[in-house]
Amino acid sequence: MALKLRRLSNALGAEICDIDLNKPMSESTFGEIHRVFLDHAILLLRGQNISREQHIEFSRRFGELDDHKSLPSDRHPDYPELLLVTNRPNADGTPSESRYTGRLWHTDLSYTTHPALGSLLKCYELPEVGGDTLFCNMTMAYDALSGGMKKLIADLHGIHISGTRKINQQDAGEARRAEVLKLNPPIAQPVVRIHPETGRKALYLGEKVKRFDGMTEAESKPLIDYLNKHATQPEFVYRHQWRQHDIVVWDNRCTMHQALGDFDETRLRHMERTTVMGTPSGYVVAGA
Ligand code: SIN
Repeated sequence: MALKLRRLSNALGAEICDIDLNKPMSESTFGEIHRVFLDHAILLLRGQNISREQHIEFSRRFGELDDHKSLPSDRHPDYPELLLVTNRPNADGTPSESRYTGRLWHTDLSYTTHPALGSLLKCYELPEVGGDTLFCNMTMAYDALSGGMKKLIADLHGIHISGTRKINQQDAGEARRAEVLKLNPPIAQPVVRIHPETGRKALYLGEKVKRFDGMTEAESKPLIDYLNKHATQPEFVYRHQWRQHDIVVWDNRCTMHQALGDFDETRLRHMERTTVMGTPSGYVVAGA
């Protein structure tokens, strides 16, 4: 069966229009979906009113799932395979720890030695307007660099720091940040990664990278800033406007994403994410 596709942007992404995760799916149909995932890096599946068990079961088809032990306070209390991305207050009325999750350019679990292969984010509740997510194509970004720049960055490793937040989110919880940092020491990852399935080179950076291994922050910052800015220029970006029951699947090995926070914080935005584990990468940086 040929899947009905609709491209989401020039840079990346495809909607699979004729899929219903409530129905059994053959291996050959999943094989086609996986091919679209590798070709387009982002999949959109609309209208998937499925249970948490079905979300987990479908995600497992992409590979082994992470149990989110690197982010224990954001785990779903009953399903360790699900990470909560929500501003719904806790049962005791305190603010959600995960309300600012993903509000900077990043790729999932890059601050671990098993960075994510993919993520499947399901939308449960949305504010009336906003709450969008940006995605960028890091393969396209790499390909567009000059030969000289490719040579310069070929052997660099960026140090990824867990729990990094933007300045205006300092109230995100110092205790949580300290906990995440303790669980996840800084990890150096290659700035250029070869995608294990497509064999293509992609930039691997983001705003959790503070410096290059073997260099100071002051020396590293101009190049990190340049590469992040280059990778996130509009030509390489898709902006997703969520609808309830959307599932967006992204390939963390060749994309970055950012939750924009462009909405009224008194309104509810509730998402749940599974994270597919990738191949080992990177090394711990002592005393970073
Ligand atoms: C994430 O970074 O996993 C969350 C993205 C979003 O909430 O849009």
